[in-house]
Amino acid sequence: MPRKEAFCRKENNRNRVHQNAIRLNASRDGVHFHAGDIDWDRLTVDPDDPRWQLHPKIHPIANHEWHKKELTEEDRIRLGIQMYAHTFLVGAQFELALMAGAAAHSMRLSTSKNKSRHSDFQYIMQEVADEANHDMMFVKFNEKVQEAGIDTTDGASPWFRKITPAVAQFAYNQPAGFWTGVYMGEAPIERVQENMIALHDSGEVELPEVLENVIKIHISEERRHIAFVKDYLGDVLGEDDGGNLRIDGLKRSTYKATYPATLAFARRLITYPNKEARKVMGIPDRVARQTSRSEESKRYMLDLVEDPIEFAHNNGLMDSRLGRISAKVLGVYDKEFVRQLDARQ
Ligand SMILES: [Fe+2]
Ligand SMILES: [Fe+2]
Repeated sequence: MPRKEAFCRKENNRNRVHQNAIRLNASRDGVHFHAGDIDWDRLTVDPDDPRWQLHPKIHPIANHEWHKKELTEEDRIRLGIQMYAHTFLVGAQFELALMAGAAAHSMRLSTSKNKSRHSDFQYIMQEVADEANHDMMFVKFNEKVQEAGIDTTDGASPWFRKITPAVAQFAYNQPAGFWTGVYMGEAPIERVQENMIALHDSGEVELPEVLENVIKIHISEERRHIAFVKDYLGDVLGEDDGGNLRIDGLKRSTYKATYPATLAFARRLITYPNKEARKVMGIPDRVARQTSRSEESKRYMLDLVEDPIEFAHNNGLMDSRLGRISAKVLGVYDKEFVRQLDARQ
């Protein structure tokens, strides 16, 4: 196919993705629940409900002997509630930084005369509205946990909360880098949630109703966010209508070098409770250390980044030996999965 034709087809496709995303966002036609649809007056966090206990397929800490043998059922329920509340709060803080960056990037888009950038602007405003709803829902969940008499954490490490203004500045100057970070954070969260709902739907795990509701609302909207960000990044990393790479040379090499590091960093931020949070939850340091080094945990962590690995593979971001080695060292390279991707091509 001539390059120009391929480009036009891609542009049309890209606009269609955005238009669909906008329509889906705007309609809220019953396919998507809304954060405000949760009946917070009826749904409470019951500290006697055994369904709050973490399952080994939901969190690797549940595999540890400490969790299985040293904790009472009451302790395990409390830990499960605290872990969910903590993860939601970290998610909310991540999304607050996302909103700051999205606003800064949109400030630039607002002056663009390019039609494709206009549709980016329209879409991003919808995504910010989604994230604002998610954050109200996540913080409300933490409030419910506190009402049940259970201590909650402060979410992400203090340094992360402090860098939000810098995220906005970074997004203004380097939108591709910013959206890459967004994708790296959203993809692992989405995988955790999808796994949880699959386990719940298959009957292997039973989730409390309030937890199921929060996760289902979040999944439905995050799928769209991930579709957008992959589409956006695929475009930015692709070729312009002259057939030249939009990001080339040293900039492309830097992007490729930082991709695995950003992925490893974002995944850790989302999944690994920091020291202050572990203290609130009563998780001993040795348990956290041993859990993160266990084979089950390594497998679990690789599963969370399958989608970004596939994206990197499809966009030539891990095509060098050095890129693959650094991804492997950082624990974001699944040899078997990449072999399957290679075989598909
Ligand atoms: Fe979200
Ligand atoms: Fe999102």
